[in-house]
Amino acid sequence: MKHVIRKAVFPVAGFGTRFLPVTKSIPKEMLPIVDKPMIQYAVEEAVAAGIRELIFVTSANKNSIGDYFDSNVELEHLLKRQQKYDLLKMVQNILPENVSCVFVRQHAMLGLGHAILCARDVVGDEPFAILLVDDVIDNNKNPCLKQLVDVYEKEQGSVVAVQHLAEEELSKYGVVDLAGVLDHYARMVGVVEKPKAGNAPSHFGVVGRYVLTPKIFELLADMRPGAGGEIQLTDAIAQLLEDEAVFALEFEGKRYDCGSKLGYLEATIQYGLKHPEISKDFLKMLKALKL
Ligand code: G1P
Repeated sequence: MKHVIRKAVFPVAGFGTRFLPVTKSIPKEMLPIVDKPMIQYAVEEAVAAGIRELIFVTSANKNSIGDYFDSNVELEHLLKRQQKYDLLKMVQNILPENVSCVFVRQHAMLGLGHAILCARDVVGDEPFAILLVDDVIDNNKNPCLKQLVDVYEKEQGSVVAVQHLAEEELSKYGVVDLAGVLDHYARMVGVVEKPKAGNAPSHFGVVGRYVLTPKIFELLADMRPGAGGEIQLTDAIAQLLEDEAVFALEFEGKRYDCGSKLGYLEATIQYGLKHPEISKDFLKMLKALKL
């Protein structure tokens, strides 16, 4: 039976320790890239790929994510009274009307795999997407998740996004082993979470976009802690590909690792340079720095 990918899971429960102290009270996902919170970039990408139900796996101190995607009636009244209709439209259109949000709590920080398992009942028995918010991927013409969905529809099998990485980067990622040469996409024969130096099966690291069949939940439910003592999604995918075809897709687009300070700053500069309101002045400002 053919399935449409309608649901996406956003695991957003983490503490964001790499961004302390700001993440002491502000979720990492709400840090702005120019004037939109980081999470909105992933949500827009999901919606552009046809997702209609957003499932956020959250924890304590993450209420501002829910507030952001909800309406703010008082603010809307004020903007109406002040006749600031452009701003009114902006705050009313954070999400299209046909998109809904569900919030699930992850009560213990037991790893990415555990976070995804928390969404099991809401996803149910259908294939679904996962987006890791701190991987910001820029491709307006063909959003990264849409590229994965297209491969899913063609192959009717799970798909993960991969990127060619430098040797010294590989130990920070899930790294795939492939059945043949990767030409756009290829079938996976293995995947290892954070391999030790010299042990990576390829140079293709997993980045935060997945389309998975619901079989993954069964596997996650039986998963023991892996790398870093956490329940790893990668380990469940390594089992999934023993039973079903799983594909690695080398996506087109520019990825920013906004889980790191440098990646976050790079994204801020690049999106600033594209922002219709400030692009020209921002470029002038950067040039004046004469670095
Ligand atoms: C997670 C995944 C890893 C993946 C990475 C992509 O790791 O466990 O397989 O390569 O995201 O960003 P984390 O960055 O949470 O350590």
